[in-house]
Amino acid sequence: MAAKKPTVKKKQTEVIFDPKKIAPALVKTAHVKGMEGYKKLYNQSVKNPLAFWGKVGKEQLTWFKPFKQVLKSNFAKAENQWYVGGKTNLCYNALDRHLTTARKNKAAIIWEPDNPATPSRTFTYQQLHFEVCRMANVLQANGVKKGDRVTIYMPMVPELAMATLACARIGAVHSIIFGGFSADSIKDRIIDAGSDFVITTDTGYRGGKVIPIKAKVDEALEKMSGHVRKVLVVRHTGDHVNVVAGRDIWWHEEAEKVSGVNKAAEIDSEDPLFLLYTSGSTGKPKGVLHTTGGYGVYASFTHKIVFDIQENDTYWCTADLGWVTGHSYILYGPLINGATSLMFEGIPTFPDVSRFWKVIEKHQVSIFYTAPTAIRALMRFGDEPVKKHDLSSLRLLGSVGEPINPEAWLWYHRTVGRGKCPIVDTWWQTETGGILISPLPGATPTKPGSATLPFFGVQPLLVDSDGKPLKGATEGNLCIQFPWPSIMRGVYGDKERFYNTYFSTFKGYYFTGDGCRRDKDGYYWITGRVDDVMNVSGHRLGTAEVESALVLHQDVAEAAVVGFPHDIKGQGIYAYVILKEGRIPSDDLRKELIAQVAKEISPIAKPDVIHFTPGLPKTRSGKIMRRILRKIAAGEIDTLGDTSTLADPAVVEILVKDRQK
Ligand code: WT7
Repeated sequence: MAAKKPTVKKKQTEVIFDPKKIAPALVKTAHVKGMEGYKKLYNQSVKNPLAFWGKVGKEQLTWFKPFKQVLKSNFAKAENQWYVGGKTNLCYNALDRHLTTARKNKAAIIWEPDNPATPSRTFTYQQLHFEVCRMANVLQANGVKKGDRVTIYMPMVPELAMATLACARIGAVHSIIFGGFSADSIKDRIIDAGSDFVITTDTGYRGGKVIPIKAKVDEALEKMSGHVRKVLVVRHTGDHVNVVAGRDIWWHEEAEKVSGVNKAAEIDSEDPLFLLYTSGSTGKPKGVLHTTGGYGVYASFTHKIVFDIQENDTYWCTADLGWVTGHSYILYGPLINGATSLMFEGIPTFPDVSRFWKVIEKHQVSIFYTAPTAIRALMRFGDEPVKKHDLSSLRLLGSVGEPINPEAWLWYHRTVGRGKCPIVDTWWQTETGGILISPLPGATPTKPGSATLPFFGVQPLLVDSDGKPLKGATEGNLCIQFPWPSIMRGVYGDKERFYNTYFSTFKGYYFTGDGCRRDKDGYYWITGRVDDVMNVSGHRLGTAEVESALVLHQDVAEAAVVGFPHDIKGQGIYAYVILKEGRIPSDDLRKELIAQVAKEISPIAKPDVIHFTPGLPKTRSGKIMRRILRKIAAGEIDTLGDTSTLADPAVVEILVKDRQK
């Protein structure tokens, strides 16, 4: 991963929200009380990480067989094993162990449908356990074994959670694909994972519209004859779908054939739990591999501490299970902690822009975790939609996915949180498995826009472009210098790629790809990606992926894609396109190119701007100078910097003249 100089963001706001003042009741009961509490534990966690994580590991999970060694690691070589020798099962930890406690009849999942007129559904721990055991039995009856990769392509329905937990129960490795991805993306991921079993639904609902689900799976499978043995289909909407005899089986029919008793398999701490595909700066999305013990400990521990989970909370994370946020903070973290997790099928703006606030009021949500892009989108409609609802149940707010601008932070705090709820701005990544930098709600005074301080055991480091560690108040490339339990274990099927992508840029450290500033109080301010990864509405996309999709079009000779600042999405996608000889730029061609990207990747990857150009700024050695392309896309044409090393400096003038608004 090439490290570039991070862009300097505008000056920070220095308003400070001290939880002691805004939320004294929370501070009193919080798992970590006050900065003294944070500092004491943080110091312990970095002075003696093995003792710290050994204790947490025993407390967070029930182990069938205790681990022999907390950590076995050669960090610089990207080799990490946690809770070595331990045997456990995360489905057992999420369900079975609660059944002998007062939580047996507590709501594990509250499901809120897309259409508010459809009744919500609640699954107690007991009921969810029954369904998951049946699902596990169906998988086993259909030949799924420990270690097999199971691809899951479903909308946000309760059966998605059941399917995921059923895989964990039998030791199959789940690979969930976000329901917005295209058939081509599904195909690539199934092939890469070598998966022969798929779980899906008929169709889905999203914002009042019916979206094809199984049809996309069918299309993907048609393009790759014979890889997939079985497709388990959950009937959700009841819409008619194509059924392939001998391959497709219905969940409701299979469920009739099995019992609700299934013994959770003994899983080694380092056995794989899941693959999750994510975009990088080069090539196709990679399968990020997470294993069992360390992931389970870290996801549940961070969930407990960062969201200060208490027994009576109703916790709502608005993410989709198809992203890592859903894995760690809708499913595994909350259920391992025995919490009540709300699962939402819909979108913030259907049937109107009050939906989030209606759901909070309806279920008396106490902890609400969402993304800056949603906050910015809803903020545009003013305070009225929020104020019309009773949000007095809220005691804590969270943000994730991209830097939150201070304006959005303050609106979230004042309007949604009535000035009383601490905000936890949680920084982390698919690769990290759990939150690494975040305030703790009963401890950390917050500054709008800052993710503040590292979580226990996390040792951040800022380095300059030569890899030299920077001290004090400074800005640089964000690295982590010591392993944490849920660090990804590898890129599926490509051993070298893990080391090469994350550990080779700055020797000895895990490089996050993010730029970051540290202020005089030691607070971290993430400034955004410094590599060729974009963050569009909290969705991660590689510029290379979008470029590959564009050049597949017959008229395109070359494409260069960059992110640019976008009011709602955080970043928009700006595509520079060179056409082949004799092809004429037109609005129709623009539309075709945008459709091409939606088809190849997903509608979320559609470029906002297509800029046809006869040339691109390149160095004499032929390397595209993206720095210049980013500046032009952002409209910062006064600060293009040095263009003298370009092969043809005149290209820049043409680009500036033709810049698309
Ligand atoms: C990238 C990771 C982690 C779950 C969702 C995204 C950006 C994430 C924050 C935050 C500033 C953030 C970073 C990171 N990011 N959270 N609180 N403040 N930036 O996971 O798709 O793996 O993306 O999202 O740039 O590297 P992901």
